[in-house]
Amino acid sequence: MYNFPHKYFASSWYQVGWSAEFPRGTVVPLRYFNKDFVAYRGESGDMHISDAFCRHFGAHLGYGGTVEGDCIICPFHGWKWAADGQNVEIPYSQPDQMNLTLGTWTVREVDGLVLMWYGADGEGPTSDPPHFLPTSASLEDDFWEIYPDTTEVWKGVRFPPQVVQENAADSAHFKYVHGAGQVPEILGYDWDEHSFRTRFSFRFGDGFDSTWATPNGPVDGRITTTAYGLGLAGGHVESFDTAYTLAATTPIDYETSDHRCTVWVPRVRGDGSPLDEKIRDRWARQQITQHAADVPVWENMTYVHKPPFAQAEATALRNLRKWIEKHYPADAGDGAKPPADSVVN
Ligand code: FES
Ligand SMILES: [Fe+2]
Repeated sequence: MYNFPHKYFASSWYQVGWSAEFPRGTVVPLRYFNKDFVAYRGESGDMHISDAFCRHFGAHLGYGGTVEGDCIICPFHGWKWAADGQNVEIPYSQPDQMNLTLGTWTVREVDGLVLMWYGADGEGPTSDPPHFLPTSASLEDDFWEIYPDTTEVWKGVRFPPQVVQENAADSAHFKYVHGAGQVPEILGYDWDEHSFRTRFSFRFGDGFDSTWATPNGPVDGRITTTAYGLGLAGGHVESFDTAYTLAATTPIDYETSDHRCTVWVPRVRGDGSPLDEKIRDRWARQQITQHAADVPVWENMTYVHKPPFAQAEATALRNLRKWIEKHYPADAGDGAKPPADSVVN
C-alpha cells in the first residue's frame, strides 16, 4: 500500500504463528513492530516471548539459544534468563547472577494459534485474547487439525493491518475480488471498544443443483466478520457446513507485515455426516484462495484519506474506519494531514 499515513503500531493482539510451529524446547527468532524478539516453548509446554538481545553482550537469543526448564540460555556466554526475564545464572563467575532483566511479552495460545499482545506504550493487555471457535467446541474433537493443512502465510507483504480490517465490512469486494454471485447484503453491524462485527447474507451455490459445498442445492447463509483490534479478523461462515476463518496481519515495520490465514474446518458436515479430508481440503483451498485474491489489491493500492463511499456501503465502512482510527493516537499521522497525493475528494 502506498501513502499509508500512520507511523504507529496499534495496541492489539497479533498472531506470531501456529502452536504446532513451536515444539517444546525450540527457540524461534521473530521480528515485528520494528523490534526483535525470541519466542520459545519451555519444557513445561508454556510459550514465552522476550526481547531478542541478551543483556550481557547483545547476542540474539533466537539464533543458537537453548531452553532449560522454562529458561532460555544465551549461546554466547551461557547466561540464563528466566521466563519472567530475570537473569538467574552466570555460569562462570561469582556472584552467579545479576539484577538484570530481559523485556518479556504477553503470549497466549488460542484455538491453535500463538497470539502476542503488543502495547504501543508498553502497556499490558487491555482485553483478553479473542476466541475464534465457540467456547462449547473442542479444537481437537470437533475440528480438523489446522497446521499446516488449512493454513497459509504470506511473509513480508506490503500492507499494514488496517486494510485487512477494513476489508471485513466491504460488501462490494466480495463480488469483484472473491467472485460472489452478487454483492451481499449487510444484515447489520455492531462494535465495542475491542471488536467490530459485520453480518452479511450470502447465497451459496447459487445457480447449481449441487456443489461440494452445497450438496443439497443453494443455501441462504451468512458470513460474520469480526475485527479484533488491528491484528485479527475472524470469519464465521454459515452455509451447508459451518467453518471459521482468521485473517491475521502482524506488522514487521510501517510498510510490511506477515499475513496469515487459518481455516478451522469441522469434522462433521451440516447434515451430520462425516466431513472427510477431501472436503476439508476443498474448504481450506477455497478460503485460502479467497484470501490470496485480496493480497495484490492490498499491496498495490494507495491510502485514500476520505473515500467517496457509495450509499450502500457508506455507513458500515465509515463506522469501521472511525473505530479503527480510535486505535491510533493523534500524533501518529492520523490522516489529518495526509500526503497530498492521497487526497482524492
Ligand atoms: S551475550 Fe549473552 S551471555 Fe554473553
Ligand atoms: Fe477480501
